Amino acid sequence: MPTSSNNGPRRTLLLTGASRGIGHATVIRFSSAGWRVITCSRHAFPEECPWGAGPEDHIQVDLADHADTTRAISEIRERLEGGTLHALVNNAAISPKAAGGGRLGSIDTDIETWSHVFRVNFFAPIMMARGLIEELKAAKGSVVNVTSIAGSRVHPFAGAAYATSKAALASLTREMASDFGRVGIRVNSIAPGEIDTSILSPGTEKIVEQQIPLHRLGTPDEVAKIIYVLCTETSSYVNGAEIHINGGQHV
Ligand SMILES: NC(=O)c1ccc[n+]([C@@H]2O[C@H](COP(=O)([O-])OP(=O)(O)OC[C@H]3O[C@@H](n4cnc5c(N)ncnc54)[C@H](OP(=O)(O)O)[C@@H]3O)[C@@H](O)[C@H]2O)c1
Repeated sequence: MPTSSNNGPRRTLLLTGASRGIGHATVIRFSSAGWRVITCSRHAFPEECPWGAGPEDHIQVDLADHADTTRAISEIRERLEGGTLHALVNNAAISPKAAGGGRLGSIDTDIETWSHVFRVNFFAPIMMARGLIEELKAAKGSVVNVTSIAGSRVHPFAGAAYATSKAALASLTREMASDFGRVGIRVNSIAPGEIDTSILSPGTEKIVEQQIPLHRLGTPDEVAKIIYVLCTETSSYVNGAEIHINGGQHV
């Protein structure tokens, strides 16, 4: 049987939104430690990707679509050999902008956009976790929900729908830590600040200069490292936490 870097049986991670940014860094971090990583995103598996095992470990799904998400969960369950899942990382998210790239506030966000954002950023994480609860239970697994600094303060670029979806996901993490914790599954969240990915808006340099004590952006791997800790033994008594990864931007 293949083993991971801790010499135990090979562990499996299910990661949503793996194609870019923080998700991609997470694939690299876990794969390098010997984990099997099953990824989900709207696009097909990129043939040139050197990290995943291949298309058999990628599920194409639109997480904005409840029916498609339910279908994907059944497919994931079929692909989990031995019926165990050691970690679920709910990372996929969208952050729509107004035409011209402006911020969508609470007055100008139409309800369809608001609903779309909540389907991807909030409902998909709970659907995934509930749909895979037996497999997570069997492994005494860990769930990490990726929230945001925008969930706890008004952000100059992240819109109102995005911010409220992340605040809701932070509350959901608390609820899940209580409910899933009782069956041995730990649930935590990480709240990144300004991480060097394509989600950032022009003008972020000003935030870096004026609001981040460390005076620099974070890297996707600096986020992936903490996700890894939350999915492994080092954090065995951490449940219901939200870890800020933002160079001190929140202080
Ligand atoms: N970057 C930052 O500074 C920052 C700050 C705070 C929080 N975060 C959070 O960190 C997480 C990752 O951010 P990122 O910057 O790495 O994002 P990103 O580069 O925009 O990547 C988003 C990922 O989500 C997937 N995705 C989007 N819509 C989807 C859908 N409907 N169904 C399935 N997959 C979907 C995308 O894949 P496809 O396009 O292939 O579907 C992609 O892999 C997000 O939760 C974000 O809110 C990021």
